[in-house]
Amino acid sequence: MSSSDSIRDHIDTHRDAWLDELNDFLRIPSVSTDSKRADQVAVAADWLAEKLRDAGCGEVEIWPTPGHPVVYGAWRGAGEAPTLLVYGHYDVQPEEPVELWDTPPFEPTIRNGKLFARGSADDKGQLYIHVKALESWLQTTGACPVNVVFLIEGEEEVGSPNIEGAVLEHQDRLECDAVMISDTIMFAAGLPSITYSLRGLAYMQLDLTGAKGDLHSGSFGGAVVNPAEALARMIASCRDPETGEITIAGFYDDVVPLTEAEREQWKTLPFDEEQYRADLGVDALLEETDYGVLERTWARPTFEVNGFVSGFTGEGSKTVLPAKAMAKISMRLVANQDPDTIMDAAETHLRAVTPPGVSLEITRMQGGTPWLTPRDHPVMQAAGRAMQRGFGAEPVFIREGGSIPLVGVLEDLFDVPSVLMGIGLPDENAHAPNENLDIDTFYAGIASAAFFFEELAKVE
Ligand code: BES
Ligand code: MN
Ligand code: MN
Repeated sequence: MSSSDSIRDHIDTHRDAWLDELNDFLRIPSVSTDSKRADQVAVAADWLAEKLRDAGCGEVEIWPTPGHPVVYGAWRGAGEAPTLLVYGHYDVQPEEPVELWDTPPFEPTIRNGKLFARGSADDKGQLYIHVKALESWLQTTGACPVNVVFLIEGEEEVGSPNIEGAVLEHQDRLECDAVMISDTIMFAAGLPSITYSLRGLAYMQLDLTGAKGDLHSGSFGGAVVNPAEALARMIASCRDPETGEITIAGFYDDVVPLTEAEREQWKTLPFDEEQYRADLGVDALLEETDYGVLERTWARPTFEVNGFVSGFTGEGSKTVLPAKAMAKISMRLVANQDPDTIMDAAETHLRAVTPPGVSLEITRMQGGTPWLTPRDHPVMQAAGRAMQRGFGAEPVFIREGGSIPLVGVLEDLFDVPSVLMGIGLPDENAHAPNENLDIDTFYAGIASAAFFFEELAKVE
């Protein structure tokens, strides 16, 4: 039997056992943002460490950080063959609003061939394909074609504040020839996809303060600047309503223009803008002159209000002129925008449009660099062949509008290619109620991950 057949065979005979394991993983509510659940995050780290040991990793460690721990594992039996670093995250988003889940978020349930649970797609189910891929090689042929190192963090969903420190501290153990990440989505079900670009992020909080306290809106209205209105105007001034472009000076200076070749290639993807609009339940989409939806979400930066509060929001009415207004703002960035430069530009703009009568405080939060890599890199092509074998379908190369902050960091540090071989689907509901993972896609993902080890070993 060829190694390819024995891998497929091994996956087939372990379908149920591995699903049970994944269910155990998904039952652990490792919500990184909830300090009351820090113990559960640690339980998930321990669980994963044990599974890495079971899979055959000779070195397994849990690295403490000032936040949640990092799980490290390595199998180094392939000698001079390349070393692959698999990065992922075992933390998950909060389950709220829990009443909108059809079945409880931490009780994995199968419906219509999909496994519903928080973290099923983002990212427990996806990272687990690589654990089972390594195990498949070790249990069938006794060796994997490449050395494999796992670096799985517990704080990706809160902006990865500590992983960089851990990576620098243990850099010598993480040296690698390529990075593999499964934490993205395929363009459509059955259409294996390799992501070659991610957007970056610059996140800030704006606090606008007016009078020294809330005021009676009848006695003072008309004479005092209203911080809620001022903040609304300031935010609105950031976009040109005609063109849809962001008006912050210098915002687009470093944007790598979309190539005609990419534009043409994206036209061949199965995408229907009208269907996309209808699926979202909106009667129109936000437009930007000269750019289609894929271009706007993949290759153009954004300025987004994530939250806005001010004044009275309770039942009924209250005539008040609020003293404060607050907004959370994030900008998704594209290559080669720099988060600090963009935060500076946004701050300059917002200060310039702050009217007299209110004062602005800006708190800078997460940042992440955007990432764009050539599609024709031999390692990307190797991933394409692996997915072709795993899914039995021709893969497409796509970009992604979301962010994975560590990708840029690893690339700068190790100067090696990263491959984003995500097996989520567009309707996976990541971060939302009813998150799910398509079960057949999970097994095809394990096969693809296993074949990637083999294809990577052949590169160079
Ligand atoms: N897995 C996602 C990234 C992603 C988002 C991939 C959408 C494919 C589609 C990741 O876990 C995530 O949620 N990233 C955050 C980063 C932020 C917290 C710094 C994001 O994109 O908002
Ligand atoms: Mn993720
Ligand atoms: Mn996420």
